[in-house]
Amino acid sequence: MPIITEHITEVAASLSMEEVAAIPTETVYGLAGNIYSEKAIRSIFRIKQRPLFNPLIVHLADVSAMDDVATDIPPIARMLASQFWPGPLTLLLPKKEIIPDLITAGKATVALRVPNHPVTLALLKQLPFPLAAPSANPFGSISPTTAQHVASYFKDEFPFILDGGPCISGIESTIIGFNTDGAVVYRYGSLAVEEIEKITGPLQEYIRDEENPEAPGMLLRHYAPSTKTILSSDIARSIREYTGKKIGLMVFSESYLTGDIVVQERLTEKNSMEEAASNLYAAMHRLDQQQLDIIIAERFPDKGLGRSINDRLQRATHS
Ligand code: TXA
Ligand code: MG
Repeated sequence: MPIITEHITEVAASLSMEEVAAIPTETVYGLAGNIYSEKAIRSIFRIKQRPLFNPLIVHLADVSAMDDVATDIPPIARMLASQFWPGPLTLLLPKKEIIPDLITAGKATVALRVPNHPVTLALLKQLPFPLAAPSANPFGSISPTTAQHVASYFKDEFPFILDGGPCISGIESTIIGFNTDGAVVYRYGSLAVEEIEKITGPLQEYIRDEENPEAPGMLLRHYAPSTKTILSSDIARSIREYTGKKIGLMVFSESYLTGDIVVQERLTEKNSMEEAASNLYAAMHRLDQQQLDIIIAERFPDKGLGRSINDRLQRATHS
């Protein structure tokens, strides 16, 4: 198992030697490497078993670093960066030559964000290079929100997991790209689109193209537990449908405990969408470990972070 450590300097040294390391962010843990090291970047793809056509997000130490790696930055992108960075917003921008094609899967754009986690910001400030980092889970499985989740996924493929505690936001960053008509949502995430629209005006929806999945986080099945999982708008009815089965429930805040329910995960006690998002993946991890016949997940109200949660649940339940 990789060593779980709180020593930033130790992890910085390892990354400087072209090793891969798991790092905390406010959204999920990332599997990080020096963007300029082909060895490190290839290791990330190999360890994650991620297809090479799926590009990586580059994590920067601060807003000013975006001009080192991106060019022709639209003014609206600068406004978003100055408003929301550090934070759970990823921007797709035309890449500079210096960014290796391996990171962008040959695309002309590079995905950038400044993560809002004190430990990883301190790490990035110690390093003379940005970090490419996808979520630190095997391709397609549930993203990790604790150092222990990361450890459970890997043997000794890389030396260190930098422990920054549980991730506060709990689902991945929102991804925004730009075209001649303005801003486009590529992935719903931890930053509610309503917040972004205060700056950009109405966002365009990214039209997915099966042939050319530009943001494979948009793949129909992703973030998935190994237990059969369904999404339900009527929990009481779904429980009746699965009478006699070992049921795990993942619900917003109401309790539905009855005979067949083996475990119930209530995502929030305070009716807070933020709290629910923050607990989502940890609850999925716990349910997936209980040898259940079925996980019934409650559909959220389709607004604010509820939309991002529904997006993840839809992909988790897609067969
Ligand atoms: O919150 C997050 O964004 C986390 C933390 C670690 O920062 N990272 C994360 O990375 O979720 P990953 O690799 O699991 O998801 C990145 C997504 C993928 O769906 C990828 O296809 C998309 O970003 N992406 C990256 N570069 C892109 C590009 N140039 N054009 C379109 N999509 C891109
Ligand atoms: Mg991921």
